[in-house]
Amino acid sequence: MHIQKIGIFYFSGTGNTKIVANLYATEFQNKRFDTNLLPIEKILRKNIAPFMSDYDILGFGHPVHAFSAPKIFFDFLAKLPNVDNKKTFTFKTAGDPLCHGGSTSLVRNCLSKKGYKVFHESLIVMPANVVVKYDDSLIKQLYEVAVKKVKRGTEEILLGKINLQKNNLWLKIGTYLFNKAESSGASYFGKYLIASDLCNLCGKCIKDCPTRNISKHNENVIFGNKCTFCMRCVYNCPEGAISNKYMNFLVIKKGYNILNVINDPKIKGNYISHKTKGYFKHFYKYMSEY
Ligand SMILES: Cc1cc2nc3c(=O)[nH]c(=O)nc-3n(C[C@H](O)[C@H](O)[C@H](O)COP(=O)(O)O)c2cc1C
Ligand code: SF4
Ligand code: SF4
Repeated sequence: MHIQKIGIFYFSGTGNTKIVANLYATEFQNKRFDTNLLPIEKILRKNIAPFMSDYDILGFGHPVHAFSAPKIFFDFLAKLPNVDNKKTFTFKTAGDPLCHGGSTSLVRNCLSKKGYKVFHESLIVMPANVVVKYDDSLIKQLYEVAVKKVKRGTEEILLGKINLQKNNLWLKIGTYLFNKAESSGASYFGKYLIASDLCNLCGKCIKDCPTRNISKHNENVIFGNKCTFCMRCVYNCPEGAISNKYMNFLVIKKGYNILNVINDPKIKGNYISHKTKGYFKHFYKYMSEY
């Protein structure tokens, strides 16, 4: 097939998946393929079905949330038009390489039912945006590995190479259970978000929330029941006014923004090696494969 145009749909709460989607787009464009980056929250907001016939290859990317994908991503998949055997690749970003399989097959099934022929799936590990802040040298190393993995991935996609992730029983059970927990966890998380007295009603969180879950009421910022657990409002409030009444242990205390680290040439990506021991030992295998 002669490939003319590639469309990459993605959701990104705090920027990791956006960075990876951009890496894919840049790689395809460097190879002279016309490529469009399509943030799904904008498409959902406009409530118009995207024109899939414009594209010869489609990509879909999402962050992993509790072994699964965020609700907003599944909502988007549910609204996709049917197509006829459209060549499709998927990618997901997660804070840990253990997230192989799992949500990938849920997403593949949703797409396959509508005629999207998924032939290439990738896991790109990025820093976790919850609980623990990764060391700067690990953040840099994960980014550098992501660049290499995406480069290899785009080559494989253009060659039509099949790369489907395998699911073992453990992952199937984990994904099923965590997927259920994710959807109830998201509404619970959203319900207990609060804006403190530090809030100056600048309106940024209201404008930025991907699900329009935040609004102003009687000179207060309030949160509704449509939260997709993306953490964007918590990390991006300029006043640091947003927290969660019961689940604040999930929030990285110093905030989450990796662009400074990625763009700082003084930070070396050398955290993991074959000598690494302890929790991050299993990252070495992921990092050596590209
Ligand atoms: C609610 C929530 C649940 C998460 N669950 C997982 C998980 O199960 N496994 C994992 O490896 N990372 C998990 N993460 C980390 C993210 O997948 C990871 O940081 C991702 O790259 C964030 O992408 P984004 O910046 O595009 O939103 C979770 C993050 C959030 C906010
Ligand atoms: S971004 Fe922060 S300061 Fe601005 S309205 Fe929202 S909570 Fe208030
Ligand atoms: S309320 Fe905050 S965490 Fe929930 S979807 Fe909106 S921006 Fe994301």
